[in-house]
Amino acid sequence: MTINFKNLENELVKNSQIIDDFIEYNLPKAESLNNKLSQAIKYSLIGSGKKIRSYLVIESGKVISHLNNSNFDEKKNKELVVIASAIEAIHTYSLIHDDLPSMDDSDIRRGKKSTHIKFDEATAVLAGDALQSWGFELISNPKSLEDSRKISKAVFELSKAIGFSGMVGGQQGDIDFTHKDLNEDNIFWIQQKKTGALLECCVTLSCIICDATDSQLSKLREFSRFLGLAFQLKDDLLDLQSNLKSLGKPIHQDKLNETPNFVNLFGEKKSTKKMEYYLEESIKSLNIFGNHSKNLVLLAKYVVNRSF
Ligand code: IPE
Ligand code: IPE
Ligand code: MG
Ligand code: MG
Ligand code: MG
Repeated sequence: MTINFKNLENELVKNSQIIDDFIEYNLPKAESLNNKLSQAIKYSLIGSGKKIRSYLVIESGKVISHLNNSNFDEKKNKELVVIASAIEAIHTYSLIHDDLPSMDDSDIRRGKKSTHIKFDEATAVLAGDALQSWGFELISNPKSLEDSRKISKAVFELSKAIGFSGMVGGQQGDIDFTHKDLNEDNIFWIQQKKTGALLECCVTLSCIICDATDSQLSKLREFSRFLGLAFQLKDDLLDLQSNLKSLGKPIHQDKLNETPNFVNLFGEKKSTKKMEYYLEESIKSLNIFGNHSKNLVLLAKYVVNRSF
């Protein structure tokens, strides 16, 4: 059965606009000597990317608020936009660094030159660094999030998700090993960390802001863990099946780099089956939310059906 993703795609476009507007308005203004850094950050962050992580933050917040009969009011929405923008900034930092010659060596990102090609390697490293710290600046700003206990929890969870035991740890494994060195469990470990940890953090931070119960938190985290695996499997399949124009990034890179992923280890057919399995499991995790989670279900289906 073909699913109509038009409404969701429209929602993703609207969401991107909201996040881009927030970022554009709130990014620190360039001073005289750091103008190039400012240009590189704007170039990499604004006006491109699917912004799926920010959608996940805001949509999870709506699910929790509606379920707990607490108002999803303007204040809550604004707080989630701050969190969502911070996560997009951090995600973009990870992509800028991922594209560097010392990592995946990718010249194209989001349909245009990668940051180190458009500017230079030093600027790309610094733009990534600055985006990471700006993400934390946004979340820890008491003017945007009033509740200091929530700020502290959010900063703690985000630090764990993107650092040594999360995204960066996963990237180290991805760089150091090939699919010939590793078994399925190791690959699972890498993918959960390099991609899954930040997706899981999206729902965790939303749950903190919207006062989710422990069981709501645990089910949304389970959902995002399966979603993360399906997401990376689709990314790996697209590397094999898509083309530069629709994907907006180089293809057949994972084969060239012998990336430790499921597609290189098991091939296309088995990886597709695995992706479908993780999709089903992610949707099952949302059962307790009933119809409130219909947009998250659709998002999960979109993730494995997307063309870029
Ligand atoms: C790409 O993420 C990097 C991975 C974790 C696989 P996205 O596919 O979300 O990239 P953008 O943000 O839409 O460009
Ligand atoms: C990137 O994974 C994961 C992170 C940046 C943390 P990939 O290397 O597969 O992402 P793409 O394919 O370059 O977007
Ligand atoms: Mg990579
Ligand atoms: Mg890459
Ligand atoms: Mg990839």
